[in-house]
Amino acid sequence: MTIETGTGPHDSVRAVAWEDDALQLLDQRKLPLEKNVLTCHQCIEVVDAIQDMVVRGAPAIGIAAAYGVVLAARKHFKAARKQWKDRIKRDLQALRAARPTAVNLMYAVDMMQETIVNLEEDDPTDVLLEKAQRFHELDILANKRMGQLGAALIANPCDVITHCNAGSLATGGFGTALGVIRQAWQDRKIQQVYADETRPWLQGARLTAWELIEDDIPVQLIADNCAAHLMRQGKVRWVIVGSDRIAANGDVANKIGTYGLAIAAKHHNVKVMVVAPTTTVDMTLYHGGDIPIEQRDEQEVLHVQGKAISHPKAGAWNPVFDVTPAKLIDAIVTERGVVLEPDTTKMKAMMKMTSIFDQD
Ligand code: MRU
Repeated sequence: MTIETGTGPHDSVRAVAWEDDALQLLDQRKLPLEKNVLTCHQCIEVVDAIQDMVVRGAPAIGIAAAYGVVLAARKHFKAARKQWKDRIKRDLQALRAARPTAVNLMYAVDMMQETIVNLEEDDPTDVLLEKAQRFHELDILANKRMGQLGAALIANPCDVITHCNAGSLATGGFGTALGVIRQAWQDRKIQQVYADETRPWLQGARLTAWELIEDDIPVQLIADNCAAHLMRQGKVRWVIVGSDRIAANGDVANKIGTYGLAIAAKHHNVKVMVVAPTTTVDMTLYHGGDIPIEQRDEQEVLHVQGKAISHPKAGAWNPVFDVTPAKLIDAIVTERGVVLEPDTTKMKAMMKMTSIFDQD
């Protein structure tokens, strides 16, 4: 099987697809050295794929979970036509609990659950598949819209820094932060993209560098601790990142290291743009302090690509996200619109605007 490819210029990469009656995931654990596709026929395989980082990035996790619900419904309806709605509840719970920070996961499961509640007694597979596929398509459309809105904020050709991977690999396609970078590159507003390597998982070194090069956008990799020194050179004008959850006041959870980057940016008069669909916004949380931060295994810090790099007795602390306060952020770009210098009032007003996701 092949993962479907994108369509436009500088847009060839896709990591999630429904094909041959199953969910196909480009395995992101070994990229770019190995390109394998994992096929999920069962919901539990999707739960594992999310936990193990086969699929990662907030919107991509949500989309995979929506397809996971389709797989669960198909199985339970076949086994027990009268009780499938009860039996599926455990799978929905397992999907929701697969990773705690990216709220797109909860959004997607809630959306599918709402559809299930309203279903009649017939086989639910087709209706749920249509819902998941539509959600997937709308995510790509939202990314393209954010690409235009975000690129429009970049006044003059400049260098930019991105962190982690917020690209096609992390979404339905095109990307959030990398969607803006794709559009701005095409509009000749970017001279150089710098990608943080993003320890411990190396999403920048392994995924962002691969994805940009696949799409003919040159990239310079930097060690995470190089960013402040780079900013001091004066050519970088924007830090452009994605998000896993945005609180009602505009505080942003994103890959660990984003907060430090934003502090360095403030000191050097570099602007910070956060690009995320409103499926990433959690208006039930007043501020970022309430966002659950995932802690992962210390072995991820103590090893690189399976090789131990420290003393065997060393321990490690491994929170994989941090929270950047709204006051360090210049712009939050969503498919509904742009919020400059975010606060609760502006976030509320933005959430009332029309969304591409209203079309489902
Ligand atoms: O742990 P990961 O790789 O799932 O973390 C991903 C990120 O932090 C991304 O920046 C975020 O999900 C935005 S993706 C469009």
